[in-house]
Amino acid sequence: MFALGICSCFCALALASWAVARSRRLPLPPGPPRKFWFGNEEILPWVHPWKEFVIWSKTFGPLIYLYAFGRDILIVNEASAATDLLETKSTLYARRPTRSMVALTGRKDNIAFMDHNERQKKARTLLQGAFNPRAQKSWGPVLEEETTNLMLQMAQSPELFKQHIRRYLGSFITRFTYGTKVDDVALKLGDEISVHTQQALRPGRWLADTIPLVLYLPDWFPGMAFKGWARDARTKFIEYTARPFQEARSSVLNGTETRGMVPDALSDIITGASKYKEEELVSAASSIYTAAIETTYAVFMDFLILMMAHQDVQQRAYREITSVTESTRQPLLSDMTALPYIDAVIREVHRFNPVTPMIPRSPVQTDSYKGYRIPQDTWVMFNIWAMTHDANIYPDPHKFLPERHLPLGHESSAKDPRDFTFGFGKRICPGLSLANAQIFLFVVQFLATFEIRPPLGDDGNEEEVVMEYTSSFVSLPLPFKCRLIPRSGNAILY
Ligand code: HEM
Repeated sequence: MFALGICSCFCALALASWAVARSRRLPLPPGPPRKFWFGNEEILPWVHPWKEFVIWSKTFGPLIYLYAFGRDILIVNEASAATDLLETKSTLYARRPTRSMVALTGRKDNIAFMDHNERQKKARTLLQGAFNPRAQKSWGPVLEEETTNLMLQMAQSPELFKQHIRRYLGSFITRFTYGTKVDDVALKLGDEISVHTQQALRPGRWLADTIPLVLYLPDWFPGMAFKGWARDARTKFIEYTARPFQEARSSVLNGTETRGMVPDALSDIITGASKYKEEELVSAASSIYTAAIETTYAVFMDFLILMMAHQDVQQRAYREITSVTESTRQPLLSDMTALPYIDAVIREVHRFNPVTPMIPRSPVQTDSYKGYRIPQDTWVMFNIWAMTHDANIYPDPHKFLPERHLPLGHESSAKDPRDFTFGFGKRICPGLSLANAQIFLFVVQFLATFEIRPPLGDDGNEEEVVMEYTSSFVSLPLPFKCRLIPRSGNAILY
């Protein structure tokens, strides 16, 4: 028996070494020709790279290999490949690529950037537990109330709709993370750290990401100004995340009644009744603000601009809402199942402009896929935009067609784009239940309260809606104006 065990261990080891040795001999996936030293740096697209990579796919196929900034880069344009790599081989691809700027700006213990180790897994579980559908009975009613308040504020100063929306997002997430209220100073700081995070993540922008050895050079050395910027970003990040955490800690120790993810978990940690450690809670809490606000805000902006451009869709969605509420009340989370067209609109908003168009991962060891070698530590960029614009999955992908998501008899309709836009496998977005609930409430209450129309031009006619998007890590429409006309007879306005 013992000999048999040893023998099977030996066979497994031999098989694994053979697989690794074999994959090392395989060719790299196809890609554009590379120049000595700089590889493909000169031809890398910076404006909507996700769209450009779809064009490149016609020449190279769904997997495109590039070399830039001293790294192997693989672009994955196909949904089936994403499922094969991120779900079938989920452990191998559960890591994010390393970036020096993440550590330098103080974000290394953030769930989104940590290795998929014990601390990361526990922090994810804490976050998922706080915002999952079961916990919705604690945060759902507050979210409904805050969304209705947002509508009232917007009715008072519709021209400030963007500021109102950011405040609503910031105040809800802070309240449910730390149990504290947010003031204007904290909101401004929160927005600043979000900008810093996005800047720190820009590939190719930082010398320290390409040549980590420069980190050992003194600050006064030419080209080292980024260190001062990173120190400032780090200080602000710590200030933003440490203060509310300490406040929550003091209120737990003083026995003050405060509810939120941090105070709820902390009281058990402090009394020793929890399986979690404080450091895991710190990771969960400090990860939320940017991850939650920038993405949700981008979806809201997508929704507004798409409704301006598609008045027919807006009218049909409004009619569906009033058929349920009869304009006697604001729609609530409990109305979700009675509003299939609204659900279809939301799916199509996610599909039309996926707000995180490219998801980065990195294999922990050399892998082989479809006869190609994927070297260990490659930056594998999963092109979500390509997947939600794949004509084989979504015919006429450049048209905004919510109907494609409507149930057809008992058959399910088009694939739910949220299966792509919230990510895959071991790192799938842990905030997706909250995001879905918040997006639903925003959409239904907005449509119930306002007609969303393009602004009027100098000639008194409605301006044409121009849909252009940023090329940032979180992609959203370029700044735009809209006219919000209160719906006559709306329950909260009149
Ligand atoms: C429309 C809203 C949102 C979208 C589209 C979105 C999308 C995503 C995507 C694509 C990822 C990467 C997944 C992967 O690597 O496979 C992610 C990760 C993450 N999201 Fe979201 N998200 C949204 C809202 C939220 C909210 C509301 C929260 C918090 C309450 C949140 C917290 C996180 C965190 C902490 C991660 C990192 C997870 C990890 O690396 O293990 N997100 N999100």
